[in-house]
Amino acid sequence: MKIAVISGSHRACETDRISLFVKEELEKKGVEVFHYSLKDNPLPLWSEDAWDDESDLVKNTLNDLQENISSCDAYVVMSPEWGGMVTPGLKNFMLMSGGFMFKPAYLIGVSASRGGAYPIAELRMSSYKNNQIMYLPEHLIVRDCANMFNDKADDSYLRKRLDYGLNLLIKHAELLAPLQDSGLINLEDYPYGM
Ligand SMILES: Cc1cc2nc3c(=O)[nH]c(=O)nc-3n(C[C@H](O)[C@H](O)[C@H](O)COP(=O)(O)O)c2cc1C
Repeated sequence: MKIAVISGSHRACETDRISLFVKEELEKKGVEVFHYSLKDNPLPLWSEDAWDDESDLVKNTLNDLQENISSCDAYVVMSPEWGGMVTPGLKNFMLMSGGFMFKPAYLIGVSASRGGAYPIAELRMSSYKNNQIMYLPEHLIVRDCANMFNDKADDSYLRKRLDYGLNLLIKHAELLAPLQDSGLINLEDYPYGM
């Protein structure tokens, strides 16, 4: 089992730190993790080079990214709430990356205060259409994030809830695996969602 943990904050801060905690929790369950953090902006903004197989963007960046994403059985997608939104870097990532192939994903929203729901709602509404990522109904919202997952406050509920979500994600990945070889997925005729 291999799961990607995608951290959508493009600064070195809380979402990145918590994504490393999630990575460790998955590894304790015997899962191999592909950790991809948008910290320090590893992805340039979308340009038409993304449609040119010979461009440096595709050859040096997107091919590798797509290969790593395709090799995973499931995904954890994390976004801080910035201005009541998903980060622009994560929306750019969802626009640029493909290969999710109807595999399950677990969402985590992160907020320093009482936010965190808007990025979850936004990702559920727009981010899946052309890359075929499948979000589970279960998600996590980490509020007061600076004090969570670091023994600064009582976060026992969140730890249990994260464990519940990750176990559900792993089970969905196992149960949905046969879909990949079922012959039902036809991205040649239907590469884009409606
Ligand atoms: C540009 C920007 C806008 C933000 N807007 C919000 C917001 O709308 N709601 C909220 O709860 N937190 C907001 N925050 C604070 C984040 O919740 C906080 O930075 C938290 O640590 C998660 O983001 P991080 O992973 O980038 O640190 C904002 C932070 C930044 C940098």
